[in-house]
Amino acid sequence: MADTLTIIDNRTGKQYELAITDGTIRALDLRQIKADAEDFGLMAYDPAYMNTASCRSAITLIDGDKGILRYRGYPIEQLAEHSTFQEVAYLLLKGELPSEGEYKAWVNEITHHTYVHEYVNRAMDGFLYDAHMMGKLVTFLAALSTFYPKSKAVRDARTRDEHIVKIIAKMPTLAAWCFRHSTGRPYIYPDNSLSYCGNFLNMLFRMGEPKYDPDPVLERALDVLFILHADHEQNCSASAARAVGSSESDPYCSLAAAAAALYGPLHGGANEAVLRMLKQIGSVKNIPSFIEGCKDGSQRLMGFGHRVYKNYDPRAKIIKELAHQVFAVTGKNPYLDIALELEKIALDDEYFIKRKLYPNVDFYSGLIYQAMGFPVEMFPVLFAIPRAAGWLAQWQEMLVDPEQRIARPRQVYIGADVRDYVAIDKRGAGSAS
Ligand code: CMC
Repeated sequence: MADTLTIIDNRTGKQYELAITDGTIRALDLRQIKADAEDFGLMAYDPAYMNTASCRSAITLIDGDKGILRYRGYPIEQLAEHSTFQEVAYLLLKGELPSEGEYKAWVNEITHHTYVHEYVNRAMDGFLYDAHMMGKLVTFLAALSTFYPKSKAVRDARTRDEHIVKIIAKMPTLAAWCFRHSTGRPYIYPDNSLSYCGNFLNMLFRMGEPKYDPDPVLERALDVLFILHADHEQNCSASAARAVGSSESDPYCSLAAAAAALYGPLHGGANEAVLRMLKQIGSVKNIPSFIEGCKDGSQRLMGFGHRVYKNYDPRAKIIKELAHQVFAVTGKNPYLDIALELEKIALDDEYFIKRKLYPNVDFYSGLIYQAMGFPVEMFPVLFAIPRAAGWLAQWQEMLVDPEQRIARPRQVYIGADVRDYVAIDKRGAGSAS
């Protein structure tokens, strides 16, 4: 059987044969299908990219029906159990797990680029004391572009490598300083003798002690959370990184755009929204009325549902398990009982079953973050740190793909036909929508 699609255009009676490759047809192949010689040619209309592959990618695989997530072929469960975030970042960016020597060199390089320019520290004071931490992170990611103008040479592989390391190294420092600024505490400089997450905890929480000693359970839990959040193929923020990067913006600006996309409550802001929701529900007895509100469309059950997963999000399973390990150290998050009951009721409810709405990565991650002492404004920031590795891998893959061009979707114009300008004194009021 030939891998082709036969299309008959009933407007003209003409027949076309389109090649099918990897389960897709080329949207550009549709352009030959014209109603008449003047016709622009057929396009695919796909708001929100519900069924459009925007790239060929070898980084992350999600099988949403089966609840599968793999980075470069490795199941997320195995990486969460055996790997470290820095190793996963290497894997995402370079395609293979590093040898021992490669890993040491990679960690060493990242460790020695953790400091940020002192002007970041000064610029931070320009923000209001209650500025959202994610707003600050987005700003400083873009601001780093001005410190590293040479990063604009995005077609040069060595330049890309240099700034990829800088970004992965500096994300925890920027994130920790956004947090310290909000809490009115002095900035803590990186401690190169600690691990990636140990040092991050140090920059977040160290006070008077001369040397910070991270709790090993919390250090590992954070590392696992970072592994789980490192990439998720063509989601809203990765697509933003690719789209902005496709105009050859430098990696700092491309990642600032990605972080801005992540900020929204339907994406990385969802774990923050979950905590606000649990607080609003307040008690297990209020769950049934809350669920009714979700079903009549007046609110959403945050942390549930996913564009791709139509099964339990594999990351949510790992995080639920991790939560118990963290709570053994920090004490149980008081919202856990509400979350568990909410999940139980929703998974049993016809509305959620029919729409295949299951807990996603954000449902339990916020509970862990809160138990570790993070305010909700810090949650999307904690998502952004590891996701930077994924954004960079996606950004780089886009740049080296010879098929990619500047991202520029088409539209179906539905506006007014040509008309003549009307002087202001001749116009009626209230005609604009
Ligand atoms: N609560 C109640 N109903 C929901 C929910 C929800 N969380 N999610 C989807 N639905 C309903 C929706 O109302 C619609 O119902 P109907 O067919 O009757 O109109 C149906 O399910 C399909 O929803 P959709 O909005 O068309 O689905 P989508 O693929 O456009 O949206 C989503 C995906 C993640 C934006 C959505 O499920 C949602 O808003 N979830 C809550 C926010 C959240 O947890 N986001 C984090 C996503 S995971 C982190 C990440 O990867 O970014």
